[in-house]
Amino acid sequence: MVATLDDTKRSAIAIKLADMKAIQNLIIENEEQLIRQVNDQEIAQRLRDFLEDDRKNLGVLETVIGQYGIQAEPDNTVTQMVQKIRELQQSSELSVYEKVFQHELLKHQQVMTGLTIHKAGQKVGADVLLAIGPLNTVNFENRAHQEQLKGVLEILGVRELTGQEADQGIWARVQDAMAAVSGVVGSAVTQNTDKKDMNIQDVIRLDHNKVNTLFTELLASQNPQKIQEYFGQIYKDLSAHAEAEEQVVYPRVRPFYGQNETQELFDEQAEMKKMLAEIQGINPSNMDQFKGKIKQLMDAVGDHIRQEESTMFAAIRNNLNTQQSEQLATEFKAAKTQIQQKQGVVSSK
Ligand SMILES: [Fe+2]
Ligand SMILES: [Fe+2]
Repeated sequence: MVATLDDTKRSAIAIKLADMKAIQNLIIENEEQLIRQVNDQEIAQRLRDFLEDDRKNLGVLETVIGQYGIQAEPDNTVTQMVQKIRELQQSSELSVYEKVFQHELLKHQQVMTGLTIHKAGQKVGADVLLAIGPLNTVNFENRAHQEQLKGVLEILGVRELTGQEADQGIWARVQDAMAAVSGVVGSAVTQNTDKKDMNIQDVIRLDHNKVNTLFTELLASQNPQKIQEYFGQIYKDLSAHAEAEEQVVYPRVRPFYGQNETQELFDEQAEMKKMLAEIQGINPSNMDQFKGKIKQLMDAVGDHIRQEESTMFAAIRNNLNTQQSEQLATEFKAAKTQIQQKQGVVSSK
């Protein structure tokens, strides 16, 4: 595989995304337990709302990792930390107040990791920003949860320390703080489409848009090392996307899309793989030759994408119901994840 210095930056972000997924799973476990342990209707209801958001956000994180295109293991220290906190949360050593306190710290860590990934993505490339776009929703909801957890801590803390009720007006203050947060991050959230599950057309289209962005970035660059980096990502993304389509999507659509039309898609992808292999043998310092071949590949991919998004998508719309199409999306994402894992799981030593 092509490996460059810049791949290190991409791998570092992949590890942070894996960290977020490990912490998200812990957050979900914590909330399931806290709901059972807390003796307060209002707080229990808020925790149930968090849990619903957090389960959905785990799905968003998985989609982002698949789009990003590099599967990684979480950092060792994060894995150890998750294990320690899990033990503490399950033990009777901590009061409910102390457990919520710990939970709020986790939310803080999750917010900061999400924001850091976003900032780092801005340095690496437009394709990375595109892939991690849905993280905005996760970051925003975690910030909103954090504000509510501060209120929960105040109520539980005053009760634990004094046996008395905290002052009224806590939730009104929390409400104000959340409004302030949404003022800052709100624009990213109003257009939030993650409430609805993605169907197969949505998921395929995301991949197509990402590879188009990568082509644009590559052709705009004059730096052979950056060009190598972009090509490395194009190679991985196109290979995983095409293989997942061949495993899951094409066999499913063949009966109603047509034998010949489906075969044509297979043939085009075989051609595409040959072109990828050929470009892999060219040194990007021969920039004209390299970019010339990339343009040929981009044209071939463009034709192929147009066929999928016009006639194949129409056939899917006419023959699969919503549930079937969402199910196919789930299968496609799972197949792609497996392929990406075979392409090489990144780990932090
Ligand atoms: Fe395809
Ligand atoms: Fe495709």
